[in-house]
Amino acid sequence: MFRLSLFSLLGLAAALHGETGHEAWLRYATLDGASLDQARQAVPAVVSVLDQSPVAASARAELIRGLKGILGRTPRAESTMPRESAILVGTVEEVRRAAPGLIPEARLAPDAFWLKSAAEGPLHYTIITASNDRGLLYGAFALLRRVAMGESLANLDERETPYAPVRWVNHWDRLDGSIERGYGGASLFWENGRVRQDLSRAADYGRLLASLGINGCSINNVNADPKILTPELAPQIARIADVLRPWGVHIAISVDFGSPKTVGGLDTFDPLDPKVIEWWKARVGALYAAVPDLAGIVMKTDSEGRVGPSAYGRTHADAANVVARALRPHGGLLFYRGFVYDNHMDWRNLKNDRARAAWDNFHSLDGMFDDNAIIQIKNGPIDFQVREPASPLFGALEKTNQAIEVQITQEYFGQAKHDVFLVPQWKETLDFDMAAKGTGGTPVKALVAGKVFDRPTGGFVGVSNAGLDDDWYGNQLSQANLYGFGRLAWNPDLSSKRIVDEWTRLTFGTDPKVDETISAIELSTWRTYENYTGPLGLQTLTDIVGDHYGVNVEASEHNGWGQWHRADENGVGMDRTVATGTGYIAQYRPEVAQRYESLATCPDDLLLFLHHVPYTYQLHSGKTVIQYIYDSHYEGADTVAAYVEQWKSLKALVDEQRYNQVLAQLQYQAGQAIVWRDAVTTWFRKASNIADAKGRVGHYPGRFEAEAMELRGYRTGPLPPAEAKPGAEPPPPPPVEDASGGEIVMCPAAAAPCSATMKYDGAAGWYSLNVEYFDLSSGVSHYRVWVGRQLVDEWDADLRLPARRLDSSSSTRRVIPGIALRPGDQIRIEGKPDGAEPAALDYLEILPWK
Ligand code: GCU
Repeated sequence: MFRLSLFSLLGLAAALHGETGHEAWLRYATLDGASLDQARQAVPAVVSVLDQSPVAASARAELIRGLKGILGRTPRAESTMPRESAILVGTVEEVRRAAPGLIPEARLAPDAFWLKSAAEGPLHYTIITASNDRGLLYGAFALLRRVAMGESLANLDERETPYAPVRWVNHWDRLDGSIERGYGGASLFWENGRVRQDLSRAADYGRLLASLGINGCSINNVNADPKILTPELAPQIARIADVLRPWGVHIAISVDFGSPKTVGGLDTFDPLDPKVIEWWKARVGALYAAVPDLAGIVMKTDSEGRVGPSAYGRTHADAANVVARALRPHGGLLFYRGFVYDNHMDWRNLKNDRARAAWDNFHSLDGMFDDNAIIQIKNGPIDFQVREPASPLFGALEKTNQAIEVQITQEYFGQAKHDVFLVPQWKETLDFDMAAKGTGGTPVKALVAGKVFDRPTGGFVGVSNAGLDDDWYGNQLSQANLYGFGRLAWNPDLSSKRIVDEWTRLTFGTDPKVDETISAIELSTWRTYENYTGPLGLQTLTDIVGDHYGVNVEASEHNGWGQWHRADENGVGMDRTVATGTGYIAQYRPEVAQRYESLATCPDDLLLFLHHVPYTYQLHSGKTVIQYIYDSHYEGADTVAAYVEQWKSLKALVDEQRYNQVLAQLQYQAGQAIVWRDAVTTWFRKASNIADAKGRVGHYPGRFEAEAMELRGYRTGPLPPAEAKPGAEPPPPPPVEDASGGEIVMCPAAAAPCSATMKYDGAAGWYSLNVEYFDLSSGVSHYRVWVGRQLVDEWDADLRLPARRLDSSSSTRRVIPGIALRPGDQIRIEGKPDGAEPAALDYLEILPWK
């Protein structure tokens, strides 16, 4: 008895010890207890794959790998009709040929699969069948998902057909190996201007994509390096295609529209010029010679500095069609991005409106694009903001293929330093009825899948940007977004709850407490993040002209990029009405436009995206706008603090490595949420001149500003601007509200180490000491904290943050819990600067500790 329990404890400890996250949801952890017994009973000992294709070989390998993991025993692999009970994998035709009568004739769509139990005498078969090899692979993954989640395999009869033919990811990888808006390490594909020698991670990634039914992957940035089309690169690109092909994933590339000139040596890239037409044909032909199953090409034009058809007075249809026609003979698709706008807009002109751009640029061209061209439209009219309405362009194209583009990589969502599960946001757009036929029944998902206007193709594109980090995204929980994207692209009718349940159980285990806790956190993260970064349709109040990470209310106003919220002393919100505003609302069909135009029916969540109102305007909830801004920020920050505690309840239920990583991430996020809360509420307090009815804004219990302490070596000042680049204008100073009290203290190298000391005169008791300091990547400062003569904590400022300067993006909180304080105690914080990092301090907060 004793030995048994000791062994099982050891087993548990080993299982929980450390996982890197590399296996993601395909970790195939061994079931235990009754579930293991049942699964072992239900799953036959043989896997026989009748199909000879390389993709079916992947299905076989996956079934064996998965079952070995989940059941702890290795099934036998065969390739003919077995004379014992088996998992049988083959196309309908192959299965019927091998065992006539086992399954009826069936017509399955490409990539669809059918999981079917069948018996012949005493023998039982679990059949995975499809019309093509990809369907077999998808069926294998679906079967494994069932077994891994402990679901029954009895009397299976399940057919699944993908909702749309296009289920793609885009990568914004640069050829030098860096990734634009990538937060999980370097490129899986590129290195130093070439394709990586070692593509093993790319192959592993192909497996992840296949498990979700994703069938296309573009391998380079939409801000495309023209070199991608040089002949030298073609054989290298072919190597990427080779490693993804066995997973049924076909590659695409992004190209620069100016390529005929830049790499083709022509004197023009005019899409109607015969030389240019011939050039595209020849170049695309050469690509297909290297990659015969290239899925297509992605193109960004006339946007953010990319050249486009406007250079020659041509239309977007002209530009799309010249490349689409070169692709057509090879069966390739051209994805033309709808993300076209002017990034030098005058913000002082109240009629200017970037949100109008996609519709203004494309709706009049409806019907002029070739049938293998697809307009790739971002979910909202701006740019992956925390909340936006669905892009009106979805409802405006009847004779043009379309795809929705969502962002899996968390650019405006905390760059993988904040946990945000995006499926609920995507679903809100996908389910939104555009009233495209005047009546209901035209949700975005049906429009992009081509179901409403009977289009030949279309679907779903997710900007993934996974990288070489073990956990792919730089945050274990961010993987849920790739999982969710893939599941939605396969079946957008799945609920967010179902998706997060699946992901959690496959990724962290089937323990109900783990599932309940993680699912509950994940399902609330979008609202939580919105609460502290930009509620009521304000959009993400981040540094639009900088890193898109820290808070900067002012920056998301006075810029040429058109991401504005129009907040001044009288009110807030962008007037996009037809009556008095930019007229954007008229781009929606009348049913939707009427709802948005009227304040009485406009949803609160989009109020400030669509209307300009006074701060005292009452929401449907009865609360004023300004009070909602204050309250939501406090609520957001409090909820993240609660996530930390909820996660802690999973200690010992999740392996140690991932437990600790997620804990550290959530703790950091909890600190950042406070930085956001304080900066946004301070800014609006000042702008509106209306106090927080609950008295919180500007009053921080237990907070002691570093600049008010007794300083040794430390110098006080406002947040300094980043250093000017040679020859460039000096950059603007960071927002004053990024520093509590408007100032911080910095330690000059010559004075190091510096210290800030204060005398505690509150009640005796247990406290948490929260030190707000700054962590830059340009050095590793060291901090030490003493109470009296006792060193209570020390740490290095060595986090990997998207921070360029001392501001909210580098502001970081160190929580020192459980410290006994008595009146008269001296608290001393010592900072030792390093490199260009001045061991800066903002404040100390002394809060009761329970
Ligand atoms: C955003 C993003 C850019 C990207 C662009 C695009 O603006 O910040 O990095 O290039 O979208 O989608 O083309």
